[in-house]
Amino acid sequence: MRNHLKHLKRTTALGAVALAAFSLTPGTATALPRDPEPGPTVVGGTPAAQGEFPFMVRLSMGCGGALYTNDIVLTAAHCVDGSGPNTSITATAGVVDLQDSSATKVKSTEVLQAPGYNGTGKDWALIKLAQPIDQPTLKIAETDAYNNGDFTVAGWGAAKEGGGQQRYLLKATVPYVDDATCKSAYSELVPGEELCAGKMDTGGVDTCQGDSGGPMFRKDDNDQWIQVGIVSWGEGCARPGKPGVYTEVSTFAKDIKAGADQLGG
Ligand code: ARG
Repeated sequence: MRNHLKHLKRTTALGAVALAAFSLTPGTATALPRDPEPGPTVVGGTPAAQGEFPFMVRLSMGCGGALYTNDIVLTAAHCVDGSGPNTSITATAGVVDLQDSSATKVKSTEVLQAPGYNGTGKDWALIKLAQPIDQPTLKIAETDAYNNGDFTVAGWGAAKEGGGQQRYLLKATVPYVDDATCKSAYSELVPGEELCAGKMDTGGVDTCQGDSGGPMFRKDDNDQWIQVGIVSWGEGCARPGKPGVYTEVSTFAKDIKAGADQLGG
C-alpha cells in the first residue's frame, strides 16, 4: 500500500495541475465525454486572467507554489529534495504566461521540507527566495472552518492525464469531498493531514501532474482568498471516483508559520 502510494506520487511528481474539464469533441456543441475511461479527455479549466491569482508561482522543477510571504513560497514536500541551503530553484511570478518577458524570476536560497516527511502525508515545504517578490501573498487557513464548499485550483500542469505542461495558467473549481468518501476511494489517505476535492460522480475537473505544490483556495468570511490545500496526489487525473488529494493546510498552519520564522520571516 505504501509502495503503491509512493509510486503514484512519483509518477505524478512532474505533473502540473491538470485543470481538466470534460473534453468536448471539437466542432460539436454537445458536452459528452469522449472517453468514459480512464478519465478526462481534454482540457479542463479555463485560462486565468493576468493578475487574477497574483500569489501563484511556477517553480523550475515543474511544480506550483504560492507566496506565503514576499520571499517565501509554500509548495509540496514531494517537489523538493530535502532541507538546507539550495540555490537551484527558480520561482517565476507575476504572470499567467510563463514566456512573458515581464515575469519576475527569483532564485531560491534555502528549502525547508516538512519535518518528518516520508512520502505519506505532511506534503508541504517552504522555499526561501533570494529577493522578495512584489506581489500579494496568500494567507493560509489556521482552522478547519473553510474545509468545505467549492475550492479554486490553479496551475501550469497538465490539462489532461498524461498531457504536457501548460504555458498559460489554468484555473478550475472543485467541490470538497468529505474524509469518509475520500477514504473509500483511497485506503492510504491520511484524513488528519489530507483533504480531498473533485467531482466524485463525473470526474472531469482536477489538478494533474505539474500542479503539485500549488494552492487550493477559496474566499473566507471577509471575501479574501485563503489557502486550504496544497496539490499533492491522485490516481490519474479527473477520473470519476478518484478525487484530488491535497495537503490539509490548517493541520500544519502552526508548523508552516514556525518554519517560515526559521527561514527568517
Ligand atoms: N503529484 C502531482 C504533481 O506532482 C499532482 C497530482 C495531482 N493529481 C490529481 N489527480 N489531483 O504535480
